[in-house]
Amino acid sequence: MKGIILAGGLGTRLHPLTKITNKHLLPVHNQPMIYYPIQTLINAGIEDIMIVTGGNSAGDFLKLLGNGKEFGLKHLNYTYQEGEGGIADALSLVEHFAEDEPICVVLGDNIIEKNIRAAADEYRNQGKGAKIMLKEVHDPQRFGVPELDGTRVLKIEEKPIEPKSNYAVIGIYFYDATVFDVIRTLVPSGRGELEITDVNNHYIKRGEMTWNELDGWWTDAGTFDSLLRASNLVAETGANNL
Ligand code: DAU
Repeated sequence: MKGIILAGGLGTRLHPLTKITNKHLLPVHNQPMIYYPIQTLINAGIEDIMIVTGGNSAGDFLKLLGNGKEFGLKHLNYTYQEGEGGIADALSLVEHFAEDEPICVVLGDNIIEKNIRAAADEYRNQGKGAKIMLKEVHDPQRFGVPELDGTRVLKIEEKPIEPKSNYAVIGIYFYDATVFDVIRTLVPSGRGELEITDVNNHYIKRGEMTWNELDGWWTDAGTFDSLLRASNLVAETGANNL
């Protein structure tokens, strides 16, 4: 399985912090934000990784990370997203890298306390389709929210005003190679982006979506509140502890 980190976008919710640099280069406690998703993939046994950058300071990722020696990697792959076409648009850029293998996609501003090893192993055995990960939250309106029927996920709504559950779909996804065909069918949402939630709903309709609940805390870091929360959580317990 190959790993993808999406670190494009303009990070406008963090202006002026992101006016001259990329959100994922900002500090979260004692490390640049991008370090955490890289470690998440490595902890899941995924070492063939491509980073999608974009917006400001894309070249700084290369300066910071090089070939990933600090993480024990031999090589890192990079690509560049023009503009801010959305998460699914960023993902479409890695088709040549994926080479028909299954992929694990991590949003560059998602940080977890523990690891996703069990989910990754289950997905390896699943063989096809997709897997998402859910976490109970107090503010589901900020996220993709699943409608559940027992253990079955019926549908996901992106940032619903009236959420159908208290779960968020976190920014860690597993897909088979058909994901790129799915993305080609998408149309931009109200916010002008190709939405990852539309990709996930496609797999749900096909009956090929599974989910796991994430163990340990999870946070994004794309707003002032969540960036502070992320730093505090990492300072208190550390992140990516096996
Ligand atoms: O954090 C989990 C949430 O992430 C999910 O619950 C939502 O369903 C999903 O849509 C997403 O919501 P956000 O609106 O918070 O995503 P955001 O625009 O902040 O983008 C998250 C990351 O995705 C960002 O850190 C970098 C990457 N990204 C985003 C965009 C819009 C790109 O690489 N390119 C893009 O064009």
